[in-house]
Amino acid sequence: MNRKYFYITAFCLGCILLSAFITGDDYFTITAADVKLEVPKGFPQPVYDFKNNTPTPAGFTLGRKLFYDPILSKDSSISCGFCHQRIAAFAHIDHRISHGINGQFGLRNVPPLQNLIWQTAFMWDGGINNLEVQPLAPMNNHVEMAETTANVVQKLQHNKEYVAMFKAAFGDTVVTSQKMLRAIAQFTGLMISCNSRYDKFMRGEDTLSANEKRGLQLFRDNCAQCHKEPLFTDNTYRNIGLTYDTAFKDSGRVRITGDMKDFMKFKVPSLRNVEMTYPYMHDGRFSTLKQVLDHYTQSFVGVPGVDPRVVNGLHLTLQDKQDVIAFLKTLTDKDFLYDHRFVDPGMRRN
Ligand code: HEC
Ligand code: HEC
Repeated sequence: MNRKYFYITAFCLGCILLSAFITGDDYFTITAADVKLEVPKGFPQPVYDFKNNTPTPAGFTLGRKLFYDPILSKDSSISCGFCHQRIAAFAHIDHRISHGINGQFGLRNVPPLQNLIWQTAFMWDGGINNLEVQPLAPMNNHVEMAETTANVVQKLQHNKEYVAMFKAAFGDTVVTSQKMLRAIAQFTGLMISCNSRYDKFMRGEDTLSANEKRGLQLFRDNCAQCHKEPLFTDNTYRNIGLTYDTAFKDSGRVRITGDMKDFMKFKVPSLRNVEMTYPYMHDGRFSTLKQVLDHYTQSFVGVPGVDPRVVNGLHLTLQDKQDVIAFLKTLTDKDFLYDHRFVDPGMRRN
């Protein structure tokens, strides 16, 4: 009897495995519908033009593989996804500043990756203004991936699986840095967060609690001039009174412009998924949203260069802060955080 059940079970398992093999693994298969760009209702037109790099299932799949592959680093230890964790909206949860090759420290907190095609510039100081070339920075940075672009291209060209994927995505077997960068941009460019409870509320599909609504109003009165809806950034650089850290020596935007007026100015970050992207600020100095709000209620009168909107300290009671935080949590977008398209395809083997 037992033996009979064993054979029946084995037969059924075999059938399931075979059918998965024949139909392809749905969870990881990218379809044409998966790569169709639709500008979400209420969002402006994107800055990055996909017209010259139209996403295709093959291009996106290649970009995803590259994003999660440590082959992009010198000793094959660090991938983009090592620092940019999906479940933290592609920020990094457990440390203040990035960790790279050989356990070395970077300079800054890993920012989330979301709605990148609406960004006019990248990095905390806006030092890079093109989504396609951005990956060259971590790849060539000696404490991050410590590789050279030419070497990465060589490694990919010698890898049969990659050559086939480049052929599928771009029509020929020659690997170039431009194709590699375009494939990565297809993947990162489609990381779009537009389905939080806030979004559903704005579209009339969901309701907010009384505290969350109060928080939204307080947010609009105190924060939205810089953290502008619906992207929650106005793409500018501001000094919000954070003290200069003499250990990191990160003076912000002035490093790019050389203009002392830009001392300690940093890019206004989007607050989408902010519940998941702790720690906060360019150097991860705050670990909770309460600490961030406590920062904003201090006075910075006398500190040079602090933005007039925050220099006198925002007036928020403890209840106000709690309501603002309740509102900020409505920006968590589970559809984005759990989106199957962005899962590491290497998980398939685990
Ligand atoms: C060692 C950790 C690390 C690795 C590896 C890494 N990043 Fe980053 N990434 C960061 C940090 C830190 C920043 C912010 C840098 C700054 O402001 O100077 C950043 C910034 C970015 C930004 C700009 C986001 C914004 O809002 O301005 C993009 C896009 C990005 N990374 C994509 C990638 C891609 C693609 C890869 C792989 C090729 C990659 N990163 C590899 C740590 C990393
Ligand atoms: C004058 C413009 C301005 C105003 C007003 C403002 N912020 Fe910010 N905010 C910034 C800038 C710039 C940063 C990044 C600073 C840095 O890292 O050096 C920031 C960072 C943050 C962060 C950290 C996000 C992250 O990913 O690290 C949070 C949270 C935040 N602000 C919430 C708020 C809230 C809530 C309010 C209103 C109570 C507010 N901000 C008002 C400009 C502003």
